[in-house]
Amino acid sequence: MSITKICCIGAGYVGGPTMAVIAQKCPHIQVTVVDLNEERIAAWNDENVDNIPIYEPGLSDIVAEARGRNLFFSTNVEKAIDEAQIIFISVNTPTKTYGKGKGMAADLKYIELCARQIARIAKDNKIVVEKSTLPVRTAEAIKSILDNTGNGVQFQILSNPEFLAEGTAVTDLLNPDRILIGGDTSVEGQKAIQSLVDVYANWVPADKILTTNVWSSELSKLTANAFLAQRISSVNAMSELCEKTGADVNEVARAIGMDSRIGPKFLKASVGFGGSCFQKDILNLVYIAKSYGLNEVADYWEQVIIMNDHQKRRFSNKMVQTLYNTVADKKIAFLGWAFKKDTNDTRESAAIYIADDLINEQAQIAVYDPKVSSRKVLADLDYLETRTSEKNSANVTSFSDPYEACASAHAIAVLTEWDEFIAYDWQKIYDGMQKPAFVFDGRNILNRVALESIGFIYQGIGS
Ligand code: UDX
Ligand code: ADP
Repeated sequence: MSITKICCIGAGYVGGPTMAVIAQKCPHIQVTVVDLNEERIAAWNDENVDNIPIYEPGLSDIVAEARGRNLFFSTNVEKAIDEAQIIFISVNTPTKTYGKGKGMAADLKYIELCARQIARIAKDNKIVVEKSTLPVRTAEAIKSILDNTGNGVQFQILSNPEFLAEGTAVTDLLNPDRILIGGDTSVEGQKAIQSLVDVYANWVPADKILTTNVWSSELSKLTANAFLAQRISSVNAMSELCEKTGADVNEVARAIGMDSRIGPKFLKASVGFGGSCFQKDILNLVYIAKSYGLNEVADYWEQVIIMNDHQKRRFSNKMVQTLYNTVADKKIAFLGWAFKKDTNDTRESAAIYIADDLINEQAQIAVYDPKVSSRKVLADLDYLETRTSEKNSANVTSFSDPYEACASAHAIAVLTEWDEFIAYDWQKIYDGMQKPAFVFDGRNILNRVALESIGFIYQGIGS
């Protein structure tokens, strides 16, 4: 089937950039991205492309090129479903916060709502593509909902996991390491796979497009994220040992990364990984393993999360200890709130947990992040439900100028690796701070020797 109309349900960090790139690379295909969130769609349609709701380097240029030509953002979910031949489901699948599997399993209520909506509206055959990270065997559930509507429409369900990393979404989408498409082994299933392969073949070389069965595709996504996160927890575990023994984790990482079997990527010790995927996907993997009675497998992967939580807690404890065992009423400046650089996403960001710990110690937190709003910072803390919103507001202030955030602070915590932090006038920052002035570099991006020569007391991770 030649594809001319695609719809994507969910205009978030995955759906938005992915569809923008498909539209740019396939001008003959009409791509409509729909979302229930009116504010979000209005922002995607904002005349000024710099106001689109997701910050990703290069994204606004692509949206400017394709929007109104063959890329559309709308809240009319029904119309888009009705018209499309391929429907991507890109809605959020957070970890469940209630009931069975609470804190572990993925909450599929948004997915199920989408499936029911598609079932209700579709009048002709559709290919439904899972784009969100989903537990293995979700496709089966979607299929069961779609096939039992009784209106005779045929659905093919494909799994097409997204491997883009935030902050580099556009380059990842333009030059993917691989595209993975899982589908049914039946003739109809293979035809559906081919239709989606043909879409990607507009810009991705054929040898990078892999096709598998649905379950392999779903599990590959969880496995890739578990392996990546495991590397970070492994290097973070070594960082603690380095701090005790006088080794430098940056040197250790460089040395082991030159072993071609290990490779240099994802070996950067940090205050802990964040983001919407790693923790959620591993918890999901753990839940699936447990549900099959595979307790050793579950425990093995759970340790990656336990190590990550430990790393965050260890960082805040170390700050308090170093600051003479009290941070009460002390101003602590946070450079960075996003979970990594070049994104405005803060989901599971280590900064949230470090702030939470320090507020428990009655610190005053001053936040500067080049892309995160003060509203978001407070919403992230309120979401933890550790204390009232009023109390969070009383202890946390956001600044739009980093020098103001650091003025008269006792310490600075670097929590996101934004490049601009490196270029600051650190002498000026030092001059404005309480003495002794401390820097806790949770990303190991600053120059220790230069800072120490100014007079700072510097602590990085793992050295
Ligand atoms: C991840 C996967 O990389 C991507 O393929 C998948 O589709 C979604 O999940 P993302 O969460 O956007 O992407 O960012 P990623 O670059 O993987 O970073 C995740 C976290 O790990 C960040 O907090 C980052 O700062 C941290 N990290 C990464 C480290 O602490 N050390 C490293 O060496 C690499
Ligand atoms: P991701 O990182 O997976 O893209 P986001 O939370 O950024 O996650 O985006 C998911 C989007 O899906 C949100 O904007 C949300 O409003 C939207 N969404 C959730 N359920 C539905 C639904 N049934 N119909 C349309 N949009 C939905």
